[in-house]
Amino acid sequence: MRDDTILTLHNISKQFFGVSVLTDINLDIRAGEVLCLIGENGAGKSTLCKIIAGIYHNDTGEMRYRGEPYAPESVKQAQEAGIGFIHQELMLVPQLTVLENIFLGAEKRLSFGRMDWKEMRGKTQRIIDELELDIKPDDLIADLSIAQQQMVEIAKAIFSEYKVIIFDEPTSSISRKNTEVLFKIIRQLKEKGVVMIYISHRLEEFKYIADRVTVLRDGCVTGTLHYAQTSPEEIVRLMVGRDVDFSKYQRKADFHEEKLRVEDLHSKHIQPISFTLNKGEILGFAGLVGAGRTEVLRAIYGADEAIGKIYIDQQEVRIHSPEEAVKHKIGFITEDRKSQGLVLGMSIRENITLPILTRFWRNFRLDKSKEREVAEDNRQKLRIVSKDQEQQTKTLSGGNQQKVIIARWLESGVKILFFDEPTRGIDIGAKSEIYDLMRQFTENGGSILMVSSDLPELITISDRVIVMRNGEKVKEIRERGEINEENLMRLMIGVE
Ligand SMILES: Nc1ncnc2c1ncn2[C@@H]1O[C@H](COP(=O)(O)OP(=O)(O)OP(=O)(O)O)[C@@H](O)[C@H]1O
Ligand SMILES: [Mg+2]
Repeated sequence: MRDDTILTLHNISKQFFGVSVLTDINLDIRAGEVLCLIGENGAGKSTLCKIIAGIYHNDTGEMRYRGEPYAPESVKQAQEAGIGFIHQELMLVPQLTVLENIFLGAEKRLSFGRMDWKEMRGKTQRIIDELELDIKPDDLIADLSIAQQQMVEIAKAIFSEYKVIIFDEPTSSISRKNTEVLFKIIRQLKEKGVVMIYISHRLEEFKYIADRVTVLRDGCVTGTLHYAQTSPEEIVRLMVGRDVDFSKYQRKADFHEEKLRVEDLHSKHIQPISFTLNKGEILGFAGLVGAGRTEVLRAIYGADEAIGKIYIDQQEVRIHSPEEAVKHKIGFITEDRKSQGLVLGMSIRENITLPILTRFWRNFRLDKSKEREVAEDNRQKLRIVSKDQEQQTKTLSGGNQQKVIIARWLESGVKILFFDEPTRGIDIGAKSEIYDLMRQFTENGGSILMVSSDLPELITISDRVIVMRNGEKVKEIRERGEINEENLMRLMIGVE
């Protein structure tokens, strides 16, 4: 063993219900390094980190931390040892304020047992400033955007002064600016000697922070590489076992048959906007986080109060609620998995077929085998990593939960689909499956409005792009050749 090793994992294995999720993981994490962890959805990244963080216990193998045996019984024990974990899914208490969440479990008290609010507020404000956040200590978590909540989660971990910090996909929902600040903080923490494990599906982020990269595949380590000595291609190959090429998704096509038209639609959050979505088309929305893209979708969907005209198949319609939107055959895959109606206590099958059960009624009986067939078909098509279709969705990895939601909407018979960050948290291999499904949906006559912060994704899959800035449509790009990273970025930021 090297003497700069901080944490060693030796032959760590873990099963859930008899299925191996991790097999003989060997890994050492060294002083002063950022170890990046990458792998497909369901590869076992979060599970591995949860073992280190005291949330799960390994079945076999052992860990050593600073030269001593380490086997945390609980999160608290891991934290007391100096190991903190920032969850992939948000874990804050929505009914409490920013300050209360940051100090939860570590409240500062005055000598009589009363809380020292002044001290806590001051400290919270300092962290907020350091992270360049646009929030106040007394803001309620429930009122913050997903991106802001994620930053509070990060603030909480930084505040706790851990010696080892594990970031589980911290950037999947935050803005570019937040991401830059986060990387700055990671570098500062590194200087202070904090060791970090960093999980992300965004390979391009590694160049800013990575010392070494470990690739997981089907619960095994397929390689640990020095970042400086490897290439993205090599990493992807270790991840999915093949080369991935998205260029085949670019197409040049003309669409003429109007499906959805919006005229002067505006709400509290957006300036009047007009545009058309054609049958078979994928229309992308570009913009920085907060530019009003999601708000456009919400306004059409009846999720926010809005004024303006909406036409479907040339007929004016009024949509006052999401239920009415669904009646008009519009579906909405939102960016927040947790609140978008995945019933976590139910199985993959139930989550896919629940809204369409009537389809399986034959002669007053539920045709269970047909139902199972549809669920199974989707499970295979989308490669939902799971034991079988009866597995509860709460035990699926984050990316695989997202796939279940996509499967549900694709089966629901809608004609227009809103995709808000469709592949957030989805690995490179599965991305191409989701693109295939989007394409299939449009080739069968469906139309898609897609919001994405992933520029390569927008460029690859959109037929046309609308760029938004500060709640306003600033440009509609129709020429495929003009849909490129440089143009989009310039319009998004507003430099001409
Ligand atoms: N509590 C649990 N019960 C049963 N199976 C589980 C449980 N937690 C995780 N799994 C399974 O373990 C496997 C690995 O999941 P994990 O969350 O570690 O993947 P991941 O690499 O983090 O994926 P993602 O990139 O999608 O977040 C998955 O197949 C998942 O369904
Ligand atoms: Mg995960």
